[in-house]
Amino acid sequence: REDAVILAIESSCDETAAAVVRNGREVLSNIISSQIELHTLYGGVVPEIASRKHIERINQVIEEALAEAGMALEDMDAIAVTYGPGLVGALLVGVAEAKAIAYAAGKPLIGVHHIEGHISANYIENKELKPPFLCLVVSGGHTHLVKVKDFGVYEILGRTRDDAAGEAFDKVARAIGLGYPGGPKIEKAAREGNPQAIAFPRAKVADNPYDFSFSGVKSAVLNYINGCHMKGIPIVEADIAAAFQKAVTDVLIEHAMTAAAEFQMEKFAIAGGVASNGTLRSGMEAACRERGIQFYHPSPVFCTDNAAMIGAAAYYEYLAGKFAGWDLNAVPNLKL
Ligand code: KG4
Ligand code: ZN
Repeated sequence: REDAVILAIESSCDETAAAVVRNGREVLSNIISSQIELHTLYGGVVPEIASRKHIERINQVIEEALAEAGMALEDMDAIAVTYGPGLVGALLVGVAEAKAIAYAAGKPLIGVHHIEGHISANYIENKELKPPFLCLVVSGGHTHLVKVKDFGVYEILGRTRDDAAGEAFDKVARAIGLGYPGGPKIEKAAREGNPQAIAFPRAKVADNPYDFSFSGVKSAVLNYINGCHMKGIPIVEADIAAAFQKAVTDVLIEHAMTAAAEFQMEKFAIAGGVASNGTLRSGMEAACRERGIQFYHPSPVFCTDNAAMIGAAAYYEYLAGKFAGWDLNAVPNLKL
């Protein structure tokens, strides 16, 4: 089999990204233009601003990705793009760009599911990893416990009923005045805090042991803060951050291990922005080690939104001959 080099594009939220990936595992370039500083002004992602910034930056980002890989468009075997889920206006910029490039250069087009991209980020640095394995996908928009049965074949075991894990981090960070994006700021503040200082709830969801709910713990934090204000008790941000982070990661790890036991899986991976959280990572690592499960996680740069993970996922679509037509469209609520 010949090498396959794929140019991948990702624009589903607030990162404009392009990457060149060889055979799904070798990242030749990985360019990410983050809009975080812009959205920080508003305390969260503003969809209209995101779309406009993607339009301004996408050509430059793609040119840089090709240049860094030392390649030209002609050298690509396919053009891949995230077509959902995500913000529709943001997705449309990447999809339109990918279609234009693929059409003009006479290359096949591959549509990639954003979550499939996050999961596939694990293939980049773990060359031997292949399905079947379980994956916990935790990001700003998603909290999914997924059984990866084969390349491109997934079964969702559980998901959040309300807030995504990253969303809860972002909301709590805002409530204690740490700003956006909340995950890394909570993690930093938590290092100085005591996770046992405050008892926040660990929610169970009635009819599915793999589903999650994070709106309860978020409300508990808000109520705790209001209570402190009313009683004139000083608010210790570090303790709130540490106790909240522990409550969320405890639930994630517990559900993950319940699934690992039930499905007798020897491999467990994590993915998505929250997967760069040190408490989650070390907790998962310890829980997996205890049970003789091999644990996988991407480096932080491949946890948050990037295009290399889209190139990794696209490779298996390429091998399966699953190409998109010129009618490929953005699907904001695309199912896995
Ligand atoms: O995967 P991602 O970049 O974008 C989405 O697809 O949503 O994830 C972003 C989310 C944000 O909610 C951010 O607060 C969270 O990941 N995050 C973290 C950490 N780094 C990013 N959450 C907890 N701890 C972190 N270190
Ligand atoms: Zn993402």
